[in-house]
Amino acid sequence: TVTYDGQQEPGRASGDFIRGIGVRFTVPLRDESYDRHIRLGGEGTGMLREAVKGITGLRRDPGTSVQAAQFAGEKLPDPATWDQRVTTRLQYIPEWGDYTLSQLSADGFALRKRTKKGYGWIGAGGGRRASGFGYVGGVGGGLSFGLRDFWEKHPAQLDIRDAHTDAAEVTLWLWSPEAQPMDLRFYHDGMGQDTFPEQLEGLNITYEDYEPEFGTPYGIARTSELLFWANESTPSAEKLAQQVEAVRILPQLAAPPKQLIGAKVFGPGLFSAPDRSTPAKAKIEDHLDFLFTYYKDQVEMRRWYGFWDYGDIMHTYDTVRHQWRYDVGGYAWDNSELSPDLWLWYAYLRSGRADIFRFAEAMTRHTGEVDVYHLGKWAGLGTRHGVQHWADSAKQQRIANTTYRRYYYFLTADERVGDLMHANVDSDETFLVLDPIRKIRTEPYTPDRHALSIGFGTDWSGLVSAWLTEWERRGPKWEKAKARVLSTMETIAAQPNGFVQGTGLYDLDTGKFAIAEEPVVGVSHLSAVFGLNELCAELIDLVDMPAFDEAYYDYCRYFNATKAEQAARYGSNFGSLILFQGHSRLDAYAAVQTGDDKLADRAWDKFYRSDGYQESAPWKTEKVTGPTALVAGSEATWVSTNDTALYGLAAIENLALLGHRMP
Ligand SMILES: *[C@@H]1O[C@H](CO)[C@@H](O)[C@H](O)[C@H]1NC(C)=O
Ligand SMILES: *[C@@H]1O[C@H](CO)[C@@H](O)[C@H](O)[C@H]1NC(C)=O
Ligand SMILES: *[C@@H]1O[C@H](CO)[C@@H](O)[C@H](O)[C@H]1NC(C)=O
Repeated sequence: TVTYDGQQEPGRASGDFIRGIGVRFTVPLRDESYDRHIRLGGEGTGMLREAVKGITGLRRDPGTSVQAAQFAGEKLPDPATWDQRVTTRLQYIPEWGDYTLSQLSADGFALRKRTKKGYGWIGAGGGRRASGFGYVGGVGGGLSFGLRDFWEKHPAQLDIRDAHTDAAEVTLWLWSPEAQPMDLRFYHDGMGQDTFPEQLEGLNITYEDYEPEFGTPYGIARTSELLFWANESTPSAEKLAQQVEAVRILPQLAAPPKQLIGAKVFGPGLFSAPDRSTPAKAKIEDHLDFLFTYYKDQVEMRRWYGFWDYGDIMHTYDTVRHQWRYDVGGYAWDNSELSPDLWLWYAYLRSGRADIFRFAEAMTRHTGEVDVYHLGKWAGLGTRHGVQHWADSAKQQRIANTTYRRYYYFLTADERVGDLMHANVDSDETFLVLDPIRKIRTEPYTPDRHALSIGFGTDWSGLVSAWLTEWERRGPKWEKAKARVLSTMETIAAQPNGFVQGTGLYDLDTGKFAIAEEPVVGVSHLSAVFGLNELCAELIDLVDMPAFDEAYYDYCRYFNATKAEQAARYGSNFGSLILFQGHSRLDAYAAVQTGDDKLADRAWDKFYRSDGYQESAPWKTEKVTGPTALVAGSEATWVSTNDTALYGLAAIENLALLGHRMP
């Protein structure tokens, strides 16, 4: 894991521009140079297969079996037994000590070699997408090495040096020194947005939430995975091909969906196996498949690859340019907005599909590292969607969200992701540093250790997911974490308006929200769309606290009750809200928990007839080619990632909870 702790000032050429990042080691070599082998992975299981001193293709033939043995990577017989016309001239055959395979884009790699430093390079082929695999060694032992997601996270490179000496040096470059140095500077000069009112005007045109000095990469991270195999001799081509496959797609032990569903993991009852037994169900399954396939194809067509970018998707499409809004303020990289991560993990859990797992895995690795700060004053906070993953000035708990990491962690036991979640346990402290709603707050407010303003939706759900996970894992702080889960649940439930109260003043020392004197209505369309429903379903299952359950069911019931009903129950109505299709899953959940048939009907009604994706949407893509688009591919102009995440989750949960009573 590399955590960036340098400085790069927008507009200035000096700063910490990283030229290359690599892991370097030596491999001892004792064999004769004709018994030393180089392997470098190309396309598929393709491989460059050479010896440091080649005895094939010469003007004189040492013997067919000798040539075949070298190609196979086997020990050659004593040169005394070869055709002597070769043996006596072995010293005039060059030794190739240095090799470089560089992958500077997702579309091409090039290979070259030279005899040694100071002598010219010779091209040795190339191709499109290299596996990131290599081997150097000989009949007396060698080392295979691999870098996962090699071409996806370009610019990457593999170097072998001095293989003709008694110690070869190997470098796996996570960032190739042949690429441009890493430029992480914020991308514009601020355009005069110095005050909050000016920044809000900026938000009102590009949807970017700008603030000077907030677009900093200081503290973002990236994790790379390296694989190694040591062997007592050069492995056979078949064995090496297996290693290549493991670098390309790391083997993954997985429990089948049936077992996961039976074991009631992750929010019991929120997902069920795909079921096409009725036309209405089959239609939703088709839509879910369509959406996943579309994003998978868009990653490729739009080349959402690269060291810092791979794993993320875009937020909104520009129908006029036939292009995602990759350069427009708050519409570019998605940074987990409205929880596409959760959609993908639920889609995997119910289907067991490997391609969905890999997509979700890449997203989890990206959003948990690059979109979040791991160092500095904003450690624990994530950045809102924008043109660069670290660009926006909204730094919030909701993005750091342990919610999005838990699935991958509990399915794989990945230690890095475990560490990331552990790091979130004390992220309630971040509310001392930065008030998430500083630009729009109307009343006077200074963050105070004993009265921190924390929202019950996007803020609390991020915090409680970190605490719950620490408790589940029995991490070093699990007792404190458990106490905070319970104390916040209790003091949310005890508010005059429960969840609907919206925010509370939180005491960092006691872990409790102060109980407000007056009922207030503070409901936002965003409160529940960063994983609140999924988390509350787990909490309600794990913790026996009826007052909390009721407070949450009430939130679910009243979010889309009539304005009159809202006012009768809470003192005033909730104002104008959106994202009703996504919220239909709250109806479904509360309907099942409380046995409310009317609410169950409302869930399907809202799913089919509110906002979001309608049945009447095209549910297909159109082809685009030149000169309309940069490369040929497809588009679905009606698709937006907010709607996709919400539709995906609502469809999966409603089918699981209320599949037996569809209209
Ligand atoms: C954004 O701009 C629109 C149209 O110019 C205006 O009506 C609205 O009040 C502005 N919103 C904010 C939050 O400033
Ligand atoms: C080492 O290479 C030999 C020869 O190809 C093979 O039989 C053996 O399985 C390899 N061992 C490992 C650990 O790769
Ligand atoms: C309830 O949802 C519908 C969409 O299904 C929406 O039109 C209506 O305004 C919502 N009611 C309230 C009070 O938000």
